[in-house]
Amino acid sequence: MKHLSRFVLIALSLIMTLPVLSARELNIVPQPSYMDIAAEGEFIVTPKTCIVVVDDLWAPAERFVEDMQQHFPDSKPMRTVKRGKGIKIRLDKFVPAEGYEMTISEEEGVLIIGGDEAGVYYGLQTLRHIIVTNDGKVPYGFIADEPTFAYRGAHFDVSRHFFSVEDVKRYIDILAAHKLNRLHWHLTDDQGWRIEIKAYPELTEKGSIRKETLVGHGLDPKWLDGEPYGGYYTQEEIRDVVKYAAKRYITIIPEIEMPGHSQAALHALPWLGCHEQQVDVWTMWGVTPEVLCAGKETTYKFLEDVLKEVIELFPSELIHIGGDECPKDRWKECEHCQAMMKAEGLESEEQLQGYLVARIEKFLNANGRRMIGWDEILDGGVTPTATVMSWRGVNAGIYAAERGNDVVMTPMTLCYLNFYQTKSREGEGLQIGGYIPFEMVYAWNPYEGMSDEAKSHIIGVQCNMWSEYLKSMKWVEKMLLPRLAAMSEVQWANDRRNAETIRSRMETLRKFYDACGWNYAPYYFEGRE
Ligand code: ACM
Ligand code: ZN
Repeated sequence: MKHLSRFVLIALSLIMTLPVLSARELNIVPQPSYMDIAAEGEFIVTPKTCIVVVDDLWAPAERFVEDMQQHFPDSKPMRTVKRGKGIKIRLDKFVPAEGYEMTISEEEGVLIIGGDEAGVYYGLQTLRHIIVTNDGKVPYGFIADEPTFAYRGAHFDVSRHFFSVEDVKRYIDILAAHKLNRLHWHLTDDQGWRIEIKAYPELTEKGSIRKETLVGHGLDPKWLDGEPYGGYYTQEEIRDVVKYAAKRYITIIPEIEMPGHSQAALHALPWLGCHEQQVDVWTMWGVTPEVLCAGKETTYKFLEDVLKEVIELFPSELIHIGGDECPKDRWKECEHCQAMMKAEGLESEEQLQGYLVARIEKFLNANGRRMIGWDEILDGGVTPTATVMSWRGVNAGIYAAERGNDVVMTPMTLCYLNFYQTKSREGEGLQIGGYIPFEMVYAWNPYEGMSDEAKSHIIGVQCNMWSEYLKSMKWVEKMLLPRLAAMSEVQWANDRRNAETIRSRMETLRKFYDACGWNYAPYYFEGRE
């Protein structure tokens, strides 16, 4: 806890006047940075409790009313008012960004002071958690809280399987309740292009549909299901989702994959490839040799046209350009790629990828945005201004951070929540592989092995949800929860993770999941490894 405002002192003086009995505990995930709960006394929240809004904080107040309506379904919505007693929310610049201080006392009722609107929102999330898991009784006391990392992300692959606007909103609700603030939306890949681009309607008309889907492991055609599969978001739907996320203080970072993982685009527009022959929207999983041609100017024009529309739709400063897993077989045989290498003095196909990435970064910067990419963008010589997402382990991230690049840590062996959660895999359905139990996520310190200089460039941590074997939101939730809770504590409360209290805090969080109707995996609660 870096800051204590004068409100802490007031709160502490109030609490110290209360009789000292056995201390009560509040089980909260992620762990707040400071809690002092009085031995007795509580404020009881009912549907009749008013939200007293100061400093024009109507937006977070309305979100809270909406959230609480889910828990008080038979009552009128809670009222927001300008003065009175109840749950009062206000701002103070002495509270850190995204942080809050909450005082619960006879005099104050509940008072939440945020460093900014997001901080008020997170305070209200904590309050909601207490109300829902404790029958509306909020014990007198004081809580101060602030996040460790400014970037607290979760990724969602909607290419391998498509998820409706309602599903994505539900995903956002779950992230927000865990105090995450970034959704990395993986919108394009070999198996489906999911975002309407007005300049190239073929991308969704043709590129959003595949003939069939691999439903087993390996590349054996016997595992193809023979069912056409597709779906995409209109620009209007995208705008709606972006707005929905922003109201929950979540920035959506869109990902447009390039130059690899682009077979769906190549199916729609074969002139984007080196050989220009027709290819299918891919029906299998893995890495395909069909990639965008990096030698033709038409490819660059296409990418810039697409990104122009993406920039219009997404206010995020960071735009994700993929950059991962791009085989160079086609480029080696392509006269255009080879000519571009010669003209630009590039010695290898890796450098050609570096050239493409650098050109795209320049375009994004000229349009007021910044580029983020998977750690392969380091291979071709990345600029110091790119943000790197370290997924092939942590070393790429440490290397980039030491060179001064901003880094988001998301190593596959700890952060891919589509991996199995148990050793036996019983009840887990067919998943892609791997093994990441709750405890493994929880034990991870993203700063491990880093110099202070490198640490200062780690902007955050992200978990990823790849959907090759996830066909429905029910399954996505089961893979996400409860491991997202472990992830959220790494992201929000890295300096105060506590292996001794996490299990009892998770038992309380489980009640919250039940109240929200989310489909969580039972294994951690059953003690199954
Ligand atoms: C990745 O998993 N290919 C980023
Ligand atoms: Zn080429």
